[in-house]
Amino acid sequence: MEADLVAVLRCPVCADGLALDDRTARCPRGHAFDLAKQGYLNLLPAASNGIDGDSAAMVGARTVFLGTGHYGPIRDALILNAELGEDDLVVEVGAGTGYYLAGVLGLSPQRRGIALDVSKYAARRAAKVDPRIASVVCDAWRELPLVDGSAQLMLNVFAPRNAAEMARVLAPTGRLLVVTPNQRHLIELVDVLGMVSVDDEKERRLRQSLEEEFVRTGSEVVEETMALDRTAVEQLVLMTPSARHLNYRELLQRIAVLPEPAIVTLSVTLSTWMRTSSTHQSA
Ligand SMILES: C[S@@+](CC[C@H](N)C(=O)[O-])C[C@H]1O[C@@H](n2cnc3c(N)ncnc32)[C@H](O)[C@@H]1O
Ligand SMILES: [Zn+2]
Repeated sequence: MEADLVAVLRCPVCADGLALDDRTARCPRGHAFDLAKQGYLNLLPAASNGIDGDSAAMVGARTVFLGTGHYGPIRDALILNAELGEDDLVVEVGAGTGYYLAGVLGLSPQRRGIALDVSKYAARRAAKVDPRIASVVCDAWRELPLVDGSAQLMLNVFAPRNAAEMARVLAPTGRLLVVTPNQRHLIELVDVLGMVSVDDEKERRLRQSLEEEFVRTGSEVVEETMALDRTAVEQLVLMTPSARHLNYRELLQRIAVLPEPAIVTLSVTLSTWMRTSSTHQSA
């Protein structure tokens, strides 16, 4: 983890700045956080212990599935909408393996990324995905361990959205890109495999909470047809919350009777948001 990235992090106990001293991040008041040997920094306050996020198996499945490239259209759409400067900082909330964040950083050597996730298994992966990315364990529903206005771009892809904290961390003219699943997303698999379907009401409530801090400046549907072999279908299911309440043997039985390849719809909305306060200022 690079020292200049630690400078935009803040202490989860007292909110003072952090600086890297050998392999320990410290604030001026003496709160200290050791860098894990796998390269990530755990800034989860002790009170948050017990929130685990994605398991090792889910993160493993996500790594394999994203490696197939079937979600490449989502990554491409994020890259097209990123509009980054050469030395901008990008923060991804609920970053998982860091697949999207690394893509958005592109080839520019000066750009930096911070991957936030509550799962230490995800944090391990994100720590290795790109040397420009600092991987940090934190709870997205609490205060984010980042200084105010530090990110020029924030990403939130199928992840928890804490509007007030994302607005605090985003620079006044910064942008937030949010990817959410549409009801048609994976529709061919939802009923057949017993996956969790997209809850329209929940989506509406989440959008409302975002609208308290942000104004939407753009929205596009990313829709593709994926031809998935059985291994890809299995990894796709195992990387989602459905993995928690499906019986593995039964899942394999159901996958075994699917046509191969299975034709499956990818359908998500990519929306772009700016802080309400920044639009007021420029109005
Ligand atoms: C559906 S995955 C998406 C991961 C990544 N954005 C992607 O699309 O590949 C949701 C991620 O949010 C993380 N997560 C869940 N609850 C969280 C929380 N309270 N704070 C931070 N991350 C959380 C999970 O560990 C998981 O990595
Ligand atoms: Zn402190």
